[in-house]
Amino acid sequence: MNASDTLSTLAATVSAPSYVHHPRLLSWVRDVAALTKPERIVWCDGSDAEWNRLCAEMVDAGTLRRLNPAKRPDSYLAWSDPSDVARVEDRTFICSARAEDAGPTNNWVAPSAMRDTLNRLFDGCMRGRTMYVVPFSMGPLGSDIAHIGVEISDSAYVVVSMKIMTRMGKAVFDVLGTGGTFVPCIHSVGAPLAAGQSDVPWPCNKDHKYIVHFPETREIWSFGSGYGGNALLGKKCFALRIASVMGRDEGWLAEHMLILGVTAPNGEKSYVSAAFPSSCGKTNFSMMIPPKEFAGWKVTTIGDDIAWIKPHKDGRFHAINPEAGYFGVAPGTSYESNPNAMEMLKEKVIFTNVALTDDGDVWWEDMTREPPAHLTDWQGRSWTPQSGRKAAHPNARFTVSSVQCPSLDPDWDNTDGVPLDAFVFGARRRDTVPLVVEAATWEEGVYKAATMGSETTAAATGRVGEVRRDPFAMLPFCGYHMADYFGHWLTMGKAVPRPPRIFNVNWFRTDDDGRFAWPGFSQNMRVLQWIVERCHGRAHAVQTALGLEPDYDDLNWAGLDFPPEKFAQVMHVDGGMWKRELAAHDELFSKLGAKKPAALVRERNRLGDRLGV
Ligand code: GTP
Ligand code: SPV
Ligand code: MN
Repeated sequence: MNASDTLSTLAATVSAPSYVHHPRLLSWVRDVAALTKPERIVWCDGSDAEWNRLCAEMVDAGTLRRLNPAKRPDSYLAWSDPSDVARVEDRTFICSARAEDAGPTNNWVAPSAMRDTLNRLFDGCMRGRTMYVVPFSMGPLGSDIAHIGVEISDSAYVVVSMKIMTRMGKAVFDVLGTGGTFVPCIHSVGAPLAAGQSDVPWPCNKDHKYIVHFPETREIWSFGSGYGGNALLGKKCFALRIASVMGRDEGWLAEHMLILGVTAPNGEKSYVSAAFPSSCGKTNFSMMIPPKEFAGWKVTTIGDDIAWIKPHKDGRFHAINPEAGYFGVAPGTSYESNPNAMEMLKEKVIFTNVALTDDGDVWWEDMTREPPAHLTDWQGRSWTPQSGRKAAHPNARFTVSSVQCPSLDPDWDNTDGVPLDAFVFGARRRDTVPLVVEAATWEEGVYKAATMGSETTAAATGRVGEVRRDPFAMLPFCGYHMADYFGHWLTMGKAVPRPPRIFNVNWFRTDDDGRFAWPGFSQNMRVLQWIVERCHGRAHAVQTALGLEPDYDDLNWAGLDFPPEKFAQVMHVDGGMWKRELAAHDELFSKLGAKKPAALVRERNRLGDRLGV
């Protein structure tokens, strides 16, 4: 047989459309189908017709509920299985050839052993189901900073979500041509159907979940969960874990960061990329509307979760958002906390695990000051404000296209990215860490980001509210040894002549009554203004033990009654707490072992000297 005969035979065995001309892709799809044994194969084209058809099928199957079109047009609600509500960090694996390349902060299993396990789990796992082939691009299609993936999944919920979250569809095959590179992503909910067995609304596997990455071969295998980052493999698995490895090898950065633009009254535009751990305020910050006293200031959104950052020929770091939509935390989102998000959620949204109102709309905690008198909660149970439990799951989410965001930056889709002026690192700390500090040098900034601690949230399964070290907000997302990642950041500081300045923020300090001491949300503009003005050499700062900090008078307080005593409270550095904090830094570094970079040891010692602890 000649090459084109081979291709058409392959295409026939996997019923591929005529526009797929990629032998390696076809044989991979054939191999996965042979292993997983689906009932049928569907090649997704990314069209609206396909999206509507799949949504209608899921409504019939009970996976989705169509919301009241008068209240929430073209929108759907999914309730997941109560055992499948968040990322599963303890079931997430980095299977590099050598354990030391995954490092002590990742779960590691030898690739051959993991492949044996996966081959066993995936054997026949799609029986009775449809296997969808989902081509997608992370980043603008055809851009040289974008990368292509193909996800094979037996979940229609994944397909319709990928259509919103990525550039998904037929055009990807044109870019791939006959031999283009793609990251193969295999996903199964792990719930085969025997002949005649009826399906459940949210199939998943309660006993076996595996979110597996092979960094050397750049492959992703995910089994047993249909939820969020476990299943939408373009997001954390590809755009962070695999991409962080690509960035290490190729000299760029893949980060758990929002990207926003700030326009000053004189028209000057700055771009800021900010890392916060999961459910710690990236979406809110990226869509912030400045208080009305900040006339002429505007914040625009490039992305709310992931940034790919590369040195540009203009000598600066340029960032793109590889995603095309937002998978955002619903609880807490309101016209008070995030009016742009509320506007963007008016139509064409998939909601997951929020509550249903009696008139067919959605509700979640703090959406309105007064909860409705009656709801159906995320588990389908009748709910009233007296029920004493939450109506929406704390990790309930909305899935919505970027283009619906009112604050979307005109350059959000620019293939060249946007030039960064500042990196911001924030975490959730009720005490210890001040409202804002600037690092005097790149190395000092890397140290601060590396040693960041944050209280855990409902975005991952496990305990909530415990402080853990979450370096760069990347603890669950770094695809290689964390100490090598720190080294990569140190190196990247030399990749451009004047790298962005680095800041740390903490919106979450509490007062003696346990209430947030800083008003947060739109009021964060006061800190953001100081940050961008520092970048342009205009704002004043004082050197303290921790770094460079604003004095009370260095922030713009117009329209807010926040006296100096309160400011002192949110900036306070307590010697005893910092002694414990440094002990936690030391514990992290001792866990990382011999690979820890010498520059960070120097920063540790300087900080200890300055704090006198
Ligand atoms: P992932 O999508 O999980 O990566 O998270 P994210 O960082 O985008 O989280 P998001 O912006 O959705 O954060 C949601 C949580 O942060 C909610 O509990 C909000 O109330 C809280 N939050 C956001 N901004 C602020 C703030 O300025 N102050 C306070 N106190 N809470 C905030
Ligand atoms: C996160 O947990 O940081 C998220 C949500 O952004 S998920 O995509 O589920 O990982
Ligand atoms: Mn995230």
